[in-house]
Amino acid sequence: MYYLIYFAYEFTPFTTTSLDELLAQAREKNAKYNVTGKLLYVEGTFIQLLEGDKPAVKHIYNAIEKDKRIIALKVVIEGPAKKRYFPNWSMAYDKISLTDINEMEQCEHPGVKEYLSKATPIRLLKLIANNPLL
Ligand SMILES: Cc1cc2nc3c(=O)[nH]c(=O)nc-3n(C[C@H](O)[C@H](O)[C@H](O)COP(=O)(O)O)c2cc1C
Repeated sequence: MYYLIYFAYEFTPFTTTSLDELLAQAREKNAKYNVTGKLLYVEGTFIQLLEGDKPAVKHIYNAIEKDKRIIALKVVIEGPAKKRYFPNWSMAYDKISLTDINEMEQCEHPGVKEYLSKATPIRLLKLIANNPLL
């Protein structure tokens, strides 16, 4: 088992419809590769956890990396994992706001970019896995 967390910014704003299409496509391909995880959409920023066999995770990530709909991808952490956080999700999804993050973290980050520049991998994993809005 292997996992990877990255974040990226949307190049042009996603609509509810384009997000739905993206998720449908992602879930179908992830199911084929036995990749699971979660995608967070936070005010134009995507934070995603991918988990599965290493070659499968790398394969999916390589495709995402080439995707022109997002820019400035940054891998926060990747490495071996003992278990999956989302074994039943070919890609869980949640849309949250900066206010949600600030409430969860009891902080006053002025923006998502500022939050991401300071967030440790563990904090991001907590945000992804323990989101109280789940
Ligand atoms: C924010 C974001 C997250 C994505 N997540 C996934 C994903 O989890 N799995 C996936 O197969 N494609 C995902 N995609 C779509 C890929 O970038 C790519 O379009 C898709 O895998 C098809 O690639 P292919 O044409 O090379 O098969 C995501 C795209 C974006 C913009």
